[in-house]
Amino acid sequence: MNTHPVIAVLARRLRLAVIGGGPGSFIGAMHRQAARLDDCYELVAAALSSNAERSVQAGQALGFATDRCYASGPALLAAEAARADGADVVAIMTPNDSHYALSMQALGLGFDVICDKPMTNTLAEAHSLLAAVQKSERVFCLTHNYTGYPMVRQARAMVAAGQLGAVRLLQVEYVQGGRADESRVPDPQQLSWRDDPQRGGPSLVMGDIGSHAHNLLRFITGLEVSAVAADVGPIVPGRVVHDYAGALLRMNNGARGSFWVTQAAAGVENCLRIRVSGSLGSLEWAQEQPQVLHFKPLHAPAQCLTPNGPGTLPFAAKASRIVAGHPEGFHEAFANLYRDAALAIACRRMGVLADPDVLQFPNAQDGWLGLAFTDSVLRSSAANGRWMPCATVTQPERQTS
Ligand SMILES: NC(=O)c1ccc[n+]([C@@H]2O[C@H](COP(=O)([O-])OP(=O)(O)OC[C@H]3O[C@@H](n4cnc5c(N)ncnc54)[C@H](O)[C@@H]3O)[C@@H](O)[C@H]2O)c1
Repeated sequence: MNTHPVIAVLARRLRLAVIGGGPGSFIGAMHRQAARLDDCYELVAAALSSNAERSVQAGQALGFATDRCYASGPALLAAEAARADGADVVAIMTPNDSHYALSMQALGLGFDVICDKPMTNTLAEAHSLLAAVQKSERVFCLTHNYTGYPMVRQARAMVAAGQLGAVRLLQVEYVQGGRADESRVPDPQQLSWRDDPQRGGPSLVMGDIGSHAHNLLRFITGLEVSAVAADVGPIVPGRVVHDYAGALLRMNNGARGSFWVTQAAAGVENCLRIRVSGSLGSLEWAQEQPQVLHFKPLHAPAQCLTPNGPGTLPFAAKASRIVAGHPEGFHEAFANLYRDAALAIACRRMGVLADPDVLQFPNAQDGWLGLAFTDSVLRSSAANGRWMPCATVTQPERQTS
């Protein structure tokens, strides 16, 4: 019988506490389900709402032990740190304005952290959190979950193996329609956190989906955006927060790109698409058909690559749980980040080196670069689309244990 890799390293499952993702949250259930898919974690504690009473009730309704259903995130962290059988890892999926404080408290108490994007609301917070992660030597996994798809990992591995040659062009778009309906512009007296820039951050569209698009293009190409010329704002009449961002990109290898994200394209569902062209060929991938990666080599027939099909590279094969031809999707991709983080955490705790492929999940360095990109996009747009430099780290410091 095969021993589960985390159990082989640690002799037990990791104990996971969750903060946020209570009633009404789509992504909260996703985190909890992703954590369970590979049996790496035991869910032990929860703080699921900003309202103390609802937080405890929601935890009990999900089956958490009554004494581990907490009134708030800070209360959970303090109490779990004091328990002999307390949580090892904390997953944070609260509204954006609390990611920073909760992550800082969790790291300070010695927890490893899994946090949803955007990492923070400001560049200064991102800088401070990155420094805290590096000092703590804890694992910090940022759930840019699209990096978990087998065919996204295949694309990254193909670019890294030189199958595209020198990357020259890229195009990424994340187009949604959830905010296209003008009749749904919110009442300024009753704003949700997303419609309040103090809570949702300086740019709704960049925090919600631009951050994913930016991370995806960096993940696949291994390149950084060195300069951006952008136009950002609301396109639906009466809206104040941003629902559109478009930008031209200059990459740190000289490649040119375009970036187009909106939540206000009527009728569109969740169209995250990327195209990368190099001197030897092009790749195309779209999240709504995640099992297919189109490869168009120069002077050769186009190929339609599928998980565990011919040509699968090892990094992609590890991201797929079933044999070729059986569909996997959003849950499994999300779970790949949880599984990789679990292996990294188990190895860190035991002082052994993790497989380098395990350590490819987005981390605090990626979170900081995401905030730096948003900052440059906003400054460029405010300067009428003038080219603005972006922070680049050509060799991101990856977690090594
Ligand atoms: N990775 C992804 O694809 C993805 C998708 C959606 C949302 N997100 C991120 O997840 C986070 C939450 O977004 P959402 O769509 O779930 O928001 P939401 O408003 O739908 O739900 C937020 C949930 O968190 C709870 N909550 C709020 N403040 C809290 C606090 N201080 N402590 C504990 N619980 C609290 C609320 O009660 C609610 O249940 C955001 O940072 C968002 O960017 C990520």
